[in-house]
Amino acid sequence: MRTIAEFEAAARERLDPAHYDYFAGGAQDEITVAENESAFRKLRLLPRVLRGSDKRDLSVELLGTSSSMPILIAPTAFHRLAHADGELATARAAARAGTIMVVSMAATTAIEDIAAAAREVAPDPGLWFQLYLQPDLEFTEAIVRRAERAGVKAFVVTVDSPVLGRRERDDRNDFHDLPAGLVVENLRNIGENRSGGNASHVRDIVMSAALNWDHIAWLRSKTKLPVLIKGVLHAEDARLAVHHGVAGIFVSNHGGRQLDTVPATIDVLPDIAAAVGGAIPVLVDGGIRRGTDVVKALALGADAVAVGRPVVWGLAAGGREGVTQVLELLREDFDQALALCGGRHPADLTPDQVRR
Ligand code: FNR
Ligand code: LAC
Repeated sequence: MRTIAEFEAAARERLDPAHYDYFAGGAQDEITVAENESAFRKLRLLPRVLRGSDKRDLSVELLGTSSSMPILIAPTAFHRLAHADGELATARAAARAGTIMVVSMAATTAIEDIAAAAREVAPDPGLWFQLYLQPDLEFTEAIVRRAERAGVKAFVVTVDSPVLGRRERDDRNDFHDLPAGLVVENLRNIGENRSGGNASHVRDIVMSAALNWDHIAWLRSKTKLPVLIKGVLHAEDARLAVHHGVAGIFVSNHGGRQLDTVPATIDVLPDIAAAVGGAIPVLVDGGIRRGTDVVKALALGADAVAVGRPVVWGLAAGGREGVTQVLELLREDFDQALALCGGRHPADLTPDQVRR
């Protein structure tokens, strides 16, 4: 398979239609879902020539975690719904590719097991952990400690979900619960035996509209690891993030799954990059399907990008091998686009190389 679209088609064939809809879908009319991709298609690239860029180096360093390429795995929930090997397969593929996997708090595999699988493949895998800060701060702190002990290198707090978006496909399919046997393993009550199967109680994730900057300060006081926030679209919030000591931001609209009709992330990236002014790393996700999309995002000020659905499609289509193929496809596609733009390194790309 040569494109992400082909992986999606293969995944769709294999998945229960309700599960495909959960992964593919978004909020309400899915205007933002579509716009994330179409906004990239509207941008044109202006290559530079004769720059003697022979050997390319795609690697980047983000807050102390190195990545072999500026293409990360965005946190997505419920990988065991896509493939029996679930997050273990994704983690092994990420470790093999040498890229950063942001593990979802809503993973269907415990963070300890994900980290162990990654370590079978690479001695020092780049795992970050995504958090939905729970109103029960004691419980949240326990998850933070678990993730730290498992060896994650940063926390990514998702801030675009004061409530869950309205997913009308899920309503139509009546998909609201995981099938029997699958649970959000990171939400098992601490103190209970993890291997106790159904005996140990698993909480539901609570989306909290009460979250504010004080909660970010609270988390920063509880961990020495970098704390990023994910889901910034307004430049003023990016400024506030820097002010509040956040280590990095993800420009994200949750893949169009939260508030419908927000802009495509690539369209707000330039304003946010300007607001941040290089003070902290800026990452972007949403609609990245091609190497040229990666080039456009980096040129417009991102330090790296992340992909959500493409990884899920690889996983559903072929487990660990499928995720590896998706990551290598994106790597080669980006490397080629970078070369065609006259770049040697991700940082060589500049805003003047993108035209509306
Ligand atoms: C997500 N996303 C997400 N984000 C997050 O912070 N925690 C999560 O648990 C999830 N779960 C999740 C499930 C599924 C099925 C999807 C598609 C997305 C959002 C994700 O991190 C990312 O922002 C988007 O997926 C990026 O858009 P693309 O690459 O899917 O277009
Ligand atoms: C989603 C949640 C779990 O987007 O983040 O489905």
